[in-house]
Amino acid sequence: MVSFLSTFSSTSVIDMDRELLEKTAMELVAPGKGILAADESNGTMSSRLEAVGVEPSPETRRSYRTNIFSTQGYEDAISGIILFDETIRQSMDDGTPIPEYLASRGIHPGIKVDTGAKDLANHSGEKITEGLDGLRERCAEYFRMGARFAKWRAVIKIGDGLPSDANISTNAHALARYASICQEQGLVPIIEPEVLMEGDHDAQTCYDVTARILDATFDECNVQGVHIPGALLKPNMTLPGKDCSVQGSREMAAQMTVDCLASHVPFDLPGIVFLSGGQSDEDATAHLNLMNAMDNEHPWQLSYSYGRALLAHALQTWASGSNEESQQAFAHRAKMNSLARSGDWSVDLEV
Ligand code: 13P
Repeated sequence: MVSFLSTFSSTSVIDMDRELLEKTAMELVAPGKGILAADESNGTMSSRLEAVGVEPSPETRRSYRTNIFSTQGYEDAISGIILFDETIRQSMDDGTPIPEYLASRGIHPGIKVDTGAKDLANHSGEKITEGLDGLRERCAEYFRMGARFAKWRAVIKIGDGLPSDANISTNAHALARYASICQEQGLVPIIEPEVLMEGDHDAQTCYDVTARILDATFDECNVQGVHIPGALLKPNMTLPGKDCSVQGSREMAAQMTVDCLASHVPFDLPGIVFLSGGQSDEDATAHLNLMNAMDNEHPWQLSYSYGRALLAHALQTWASGSNEESQQAFAHRAKMNSLARSGDWSVDLEV
């Protein structure tokens, strides 16, 4: 049996690092708070700007994002913001580096560290996320720049015979290696295995595939020695494909999501921060609200790490010329999702 004294006296640097990771992870999922994913790659952000009639450039990407970041009062709803490599190196209008500005407002800067999903050899239509080469050095640099957490996204497509075992095992392995390297460098890893909503599959198929990738990912995390209390999971919700003829109720989606997670996620993980994945703003909020309002006993915080469901409307209003309305649109969605963290959102708050 380990006595209190012997545990205390054997506390090593590694134990202290682990405690810091756990503290940061808990802060990221503090009650009422969630994460803003503003880490679209330059390619994705440029397409989104073009879609609303704005010429993409480093300056338009910076200007749009810094306007969002300087919104008043959203610290109550947002604990961390995930940045892209270009953005973490940019500054606010007054010259303050963006990570320094966010930290001064009590918001943890985060960083997307994968280098994108590439074609998986010999597996048509499937992707493997790359970025492990040089990751240790990049994480060390991002930590020095102020980042305290990171994100890596794997994409899993459902289709005829998909996903393959190769798709599941390669992505699970990469997610675990990424998580291990991040923790070594002091960054809390957000582990994101996203089962895509594209397709006509039903909700049960989404459930089964989500269970497969979660099992494989946490098995690999175990092999790689990932410290689960110092990590966060960013999964999809359990939803039918966008083209499925039976869409089901919000209640059913919330229940299936919690059931799937309860059977396939370790209980010492501090929090689950969902992606929105193409759901409407209101669906993303309503599903989270229902999960948090349920009686189900689960050990993790259920929170958000939304991109589009927090910013889609804010981008449109910014493009139409109003910085202030864009900030209001973002602040509103942040507030709605903050309420959903405790099951206190309702649809009449949307008007
Ligand atoms: P969405 O909420 O738009 O799906 O984005 C979250 C994210 O970070 C995907 O990697």
